[in-house]
Amino acid sequence: MPIETTPVLADAHSAHRAHGAQSPQSAHGAQGTHGAYGAGPAPDADLVAVPFGPGPTAPAPAPWLESPVPVDALLAHYEAKGEPGEVVEVPTVRDGGGVRRVLFYGVGDGSAAALRKAGAAVARRAKGRASLSVVVPSEGDVAALAEGALLAAYAFTVGNGRSKPVGEIVFVGGDERDLKRGEAVARAAALARDLVNTPSSVKTPAWLAEQAKAVAAGSGLDVRVWEESELGEFGGIRAVGQGSISPPCLVQLSYTPDNPRAHVVLVGKGITFDTGGLSLKPTEGMKAMKTDMAGGAAVIAAMSALAAFDAPVRVTGLVACAENSISGSAQRPGDVITQYGGRTVEVLNTDAEGRLVLADALAYAHAELDPDVVIDVATLTGAAKVALGVNLGALYATDESLAADLVAAGEAGGERLWRMPLVEDYRAMLDSDVADLANVDRRMSGAAGSIAAALFLREFTGGRPWAHLDIAGPARAASDEGEITKGGTGFGVRLLLRYLTTASRARTTT
Ligand code: BES
Ligand code: MN
Ligand code: ZN
Repeated sequence: MPIETTPVLADAHSAHRAHGAQSPQSAHGAQGTHGAYGAGPAPDADLVAVPFGPGPTAPAPAPWLESPVPVDALLAHYEAKGEPGEVVEVPTVRDGGGVRRVLFYGVGDGSAAALRKAGAAVARRAKGRASLSVVVPSEGDVAALAEGALLAAYAFTVGNGRSKPVGEIVFVGGDERDLKRGEAVARAAALARDLVNTPSSVKTPAWLAEQAKAVAAGSGLDVRVWEESELGEFGGIRAVGQGSISPPCLVQLSYTPDNPRAHVVLVGKGITFDTGGLSLKPTEGMKAMKTDMAGGAAVIAAMSALAAFDAPVRVTGLVACAENSISGSAQRPGDVITQYGGRTVEVLNTDAEGRLVLADALAYAHAELDPDVVIDVATLTGAAKVALGVNLGALYATDESLAADLVAAGEAGGERLWRMPLVEDYRAMLDSDVADLANVDRRMSGAAGSIAAALFLREFTGGRPWAHLDIAGPARAASDEGEITKGGTGFGVRLLLRYLTTASRARTTT
């Protein structure tokens, strides 16, 4: 029986409308975020946030901003500089008497990065409160403010979890379209977080496919699911899933606008739990492995917002779903499998399972979908996390402008990527004595693990413009930080959305 979980994204309101849309994740009873966008804070709002910039700029006087001590003197007293992330709390006199708290929040230069951070800081200060009214600055990237505030107010709890974010955020002033844009991006990222945070006792491959179907129904996408019995040629997905009581599957989501500029295929790793298989992980390494479908979640979530953003490219999403489990029917180290398209792979380590399921999807995309660009997203290697830590994703690409576009989309959206090399000399590591390829370095050196995994995947891309995002580091956070909340982060959603909606054409140089 499914357990009761409660993912919460604070309600976002505008003064112009009553309640925001529900999260698409209704199976979990998600509460929506409502936004209010209007002229001044509601007279009964008891927690109001007001922007202030660097330097001596005091906020314009307003009747509801009356403090016993002049506000500019207070800010000077606290040596507040107006930097993003700075929040100064001031009690003020309420209309008709009484006290309310005003949070003066620094907005820095008003850039997207600054306002994302500012929004997050202010939402965190309102933790546990029913409602927060945020007065929007007159200039700057307002969408980023809403995005940061709403994402910082995300929580996922099972039963009586300790996370209690602010219940509702009311945006006061600001362009409503910008605010809605920020809210839509936050909603998509929150959907990915919900999927990632769901425990694997609930999150079987079939469950993930059901979520994808629900998302498709709610956001104008076509969906197709290959059940286990239909996975015939997908030998990698079958092999990884064969040890689990929950059968594997492959999900395809399709977004088809009128006159698409290009066709982008997104491939996501959907390992619903990674025990390592018979090459078993130690306890510590296994603990977080419910998050091993974060790449697939990013694909599903990014695609959920394509229609709302009127993305100009055709997008096909493939999520290869399997549980990498142990049992008498699990694949063994030394087994040889046949991937989609006929290539054979010697499985020397069953814990290198992500590349096996991705290889099938990549080969299928090349053979059947005629994509202009292929991008895969996967929590693929611990090595990527060792190399770059948890703040950056590792990017590999066979196309220069695709790489540049993805890096730029990441920078702009607050999800940074670092380009890594596809070192040709290392390709020989993957030669096998008995099959076309080995799934890990046959000498088991473990050196350049993230690069080796990327080189393995490249074999299945058919030479098409391809990028690989190894998000093993940033997909998950150990603690709250800025707009990031502990657990699944939704990493990749924002950068993919930005790439897919702004790419005027899917530029390629090769
Ligand atoms: N899912 C893991 C990678 C991972 C590690 C993600 C840590 C998030 C945090 C992947 O399936 C895996 O086990 N990779 C192995 C590859 C190795 C056997 C070549 C790894 O990184 O150890
Ligand atoms: Mn693994
Ligand atoms: Zn894995």
